[in-house]
Amino acid sequence: EEADKTEYWVFGYGSLVWKPPPAYNKKVPGYIKGHVRRFWQACTFNYQNQRSTDHRGTIEKPGRVVTLIPIEEWKLLDDFHDHKEDDVTWGIAYKISEEDIKEMMDYLDYREKNGYTIHYLDVYQLGSGEPIVKNAMVYIGTTKNEEYVGPAPLNSLALQICECPSGSNREYLFKLASALREIAPDAYDGHLFDLEERVKNMIKKSETS
Ligand code: BEZ
Repeated sequence: EEADKTEYWVFGYGSLVWKPPPAYNKKVPGYIKGHVRRFWQACTFNYQNQRSTDHRGTIEKPGRVVTLIPIEEWKLLDDFHDHKEDDVTWGIAYKISEEDIKEMMDYLDYREKNGYTIHYLDVYQLGSGEPIVKNAMVYIGTTKNEEYVGPAPLNSLALQICECPSGSNREYLFKLASALREIAPDAYDGHLFDLEERVKNMIKKSETS
């Protein structure tokens, strides 16, 4: 009977990596192919909890959150020539039952207000040629969406994350980096870890000056 039940999967590569959806049956680390994770999406919304206002960026000081850039688009950018190393993006796939899918989508709905739309990608695990999940839902802010800001030097990105009101944008970055180190200790996401280091150094500097 298991097989008759419709099952849904959502793959998280951003806040979902450390903050699971309200209800899920199973949680597995994995990666998607064909994209790179970049802090190229602006965030004036609260990406953790829509109802509280103290965690979000503002119009003047928007935060930066991640989106996925398709490799073909990425190849046209200077960023590609500086960071050729990435080719897979690690995250977490959550299996969600039919009963819980509406709650999950409502929960993720505000993300669409931040320009994210639902796409479908296969999820892989190391050592398996075949995907472990086919067509998982993935929330992506495409390069055409209004909150997409695109590439900026890593130092400018770090500064923007650092200066975002309430410090929660830093927390978003730090939590994402730590969670990924845990689920995929051998994976190296240069963009993410470089940003993490820069923001940590900026904080250190500001504390000692
Ligand atoms: C994610 O973790 O995949 C995600 C979270 C919020 C918005 C878009 C994606």
